[in-house]
Amino acid sequence: MIRCKGKIYKLDTPNTTLLIGLNEKSAEYLYYGKRLSVGGDYEIFRSLREYENVQLKLVSSFGEGESHRSGVACQFSDGSYTTRFVFTRAKITEKPDLAPLPSSYACAGEKKSSKTLCLEFVDEPTKVKLFLYYTVFEDSDVIAVSSRLYNGGKKDVHVKNLPSLQLEVWGGGFEFTTFRGEWANERNKISTPVTGGAVLVNESRIGSSSHAANPFVMLQKAGSVYAFNLVYSGNHKESAEKIITGKTRVMVGMNDFMFDKKLGYGESFCSPEAVMCYAPSVDAASLAMQRFVGKHIIREKWQEKERPILINNWEATYFDFNREKILQIADTAAELGVEMFVLDDGWFGHRDEDNSSLGDWFDYEKKTGGIAALAESVRERGLKFGIWVEPEMISEDSELYRKHPEYAMKIPGREPFRIRNQLMLNLADSNVQKYLVRVISAVIAETKAAYVKWDFNRTMTDCFSKEFFGGEYFHEYVKGLYTVMSKLTERFPSVLFEGCAAGGGRFDLGVLCYMPQIWASDNTDARCRVNIQRGTSYGYPASAISCHVSASPNHQTGNAAALETRFNVSACGGFGYEMDLSKLSETERETVKAQIEFFKKYRKTFQFGDLYRLGNLGEDPNAELGGFMYVNASKTQAVATVILENFKVSRKRFAIAFKGLDAATMYEVSYRKQSNYADEPQKFTVSGETLINGEIPVDLLGDVAPERMANGMFTRCLIFKKAVQRAKKN
Ligand code: GLA
Repeated sequence: MIRCKGKIYKLDTPNTTLLIGLNEKSAEYLYYGKRLSVGGDYEIFRSLREYENVQLKLVSSFGEGESHRSGVACQFSDGSYTTRFVFTRAKITEKPDLAPLPSSYACAGEKKSSKTLCLEFVDEPTKVKLFLYYTVFEDSDVIAVSSRLYNGGKKDVHVKNLPSLQLEVWGGGFEFTTFRGEWANERNKISTPVTGGAVLVNESRIGSSSHAANPFVMLQKAGSVYAFNLVYSGNHKESAEKIITGKTRVMVGMNDFMFDKKLGYGESFCSPEAVMCYAPSVDAASLAMQRFVGKHIIREKWQEKERPILINNWEATYFDFNREKILQIADTAAELGVEMFVLDDGWFGHRDEDNSSLGDWFDYEKKTGGIAALAESVRERGLKFGIWVEPEMISEDSELYRKHPEYAMKIPGREPFRIRNQLMLNLADSNVQKYLVRVISAVIAETKAAYVKWDFNRTMTDCFSKEFFGGEYFHEYVKGLYTVMSKLTERFPSVLFEGCAAGGGRFDLGVLCYMPQIWASDNTDARCRVNIQRGTSYGYPASAISCHVSASPNHQTGNAAALETRFNVSACGGFGYEMDLSKLSETERETVKAQIEFFKKYRKTFQFGDLYRLGNLGEDPNAELGGFMYVNASKTQAVATVILENFKVSRKRFAIAFKGLDAATMYEVSYRKQSNYADEPQKFTVSGETLINGEIPVDLLGDVAPERMANGMFTRCLIFKKAVQRAKKN
């Protein structure tokens, strides 16, 4: 809800309040924190002086006399860069449509209750206007923020930087938490103190949101956590800086790296949308973000739609498959209860290795025996059919390249840089966009695919277009990508699209607006996945995180892990198997069958429950216990995986606190029957309060069997059900 009292706008979410005060020439943040509902005496927050950098600023630019990194940057035709944006008016408006950029939305029934505050500023001499938009949703603690520059002057303006959001809060002592990584090692949580004298920057400059620096970040100290994300899949930048006047500044937006956008008279430039929330703890901020993504980013149709359990043939066969092999895997998969077969890389052109055929999205008939017939045969076995594509790429050895070399992203006169033997397509070109919509539509129509895995396996290097220069190219590429994605997802509303980028290299809210789930990482080792999924869960809901059980020893790391351990870690969101199921032993088949039955039984909780992190494993190098816990919305059912790493013979007791349960409810707690444990411990009934606050012993040891020791990990899966018995008050 947004209300205006005098010269103060009050933006309320269920648990937070953001106060924005209007002054004669400026607007300032007065308060952002726990919801205020009693007093109206908010004038007390207002700065006593205007324009002396003692305000919590919504916007900063060069020319305001401060020595800190400022946000908005424009260059004018006389060569000058100075702007001083003066506040002119505020109004409550519709949420701005940023198309072709995607943004958060309110479901049909909730449109009326979402409200947007628009603040207008002007740089008087140049007549450049700046608009800031703050949208609140009735049911979410997350606020969506975007900005727009409008050239109201006669001369061209070059936009050099336009953050989506600037937030300032009083005080220091914060840590800036980022989720950094690399291929096969994504989203490690790293917290760095925000001290004076250094700007902390989390950014991508490679054209996509990247494995290296996820756009989800937090500014945190005990009792105050601010979480941020950006609805964007390209170069982004989030920074935190302690400012001498006693405040901390965060800026979130697309990266200004090489950026330059010319605006003629009457033209506007919109930033992508940023989102932010305040919460008193990291877990609360994480929950607010997860729920927001589930409800306001992932499109309505997919919000609570159960995702199929799939088998993907990549790690089973790589490029080496034929019709018989695929159907052999599909046969076993169907027997075991799997619901969808996904045919990965290698089914098109003449692709037997990663050095050809990208762009030739037509059947490699010799290998598939006819892709349409193969898809049909898969369906006859009771499985849905899904297919892999990597639309944004082109191999030089392809019919497409021979016919349309101009579609490739290349700089005339310069040998292109190749990654995985491939070049990228120039998606900033509308002809390429149209071509992609046409060919990918044809693939879906021919195979009647129910699912499409959309891969992206390299970074941008040879950016070039005659129309768009420097950093503007990166942005135009991303806009082109969204144009293609929106056309395809509109044309095929019942197809489940899954994002992928050499694993989790483009795990962001932009992709999630079109594709409700994303492959978290090419690393399927359970031990490594604990960290990767843990890091991902801070900003993203379980339903968005795709996880597969793969072979042991693991293909990426060589580590072995028990089949039950691999399941316990992978049982999350977009769940499936990625191994040659036809090679399983009889006992393993029984195990997988039971796992699938179990996942189906608790699927809603695994996919749409609140996802909590247990213990500290994966973050604290000294931690030995960790895990995940999924709790349904009514808190009547939960499932937890408890993980012990680095087993030591001398340790006999393992105890952990659970999360997310209702303190006043009694829960019946049981263990999932695991094939690698002979006896299952007894059930017990205990209150949510005890489970949350106590250290509950978990039976992680039986007699030591080799497969339990594999990878040095023990995992146990526990089920919590609301008991009939009521909790007693002492
Ligand atoms: C990427 C993906 C994998 C697989 C391969 C196929 O690495 O992340 O899952 O699809 O491409 O080439």
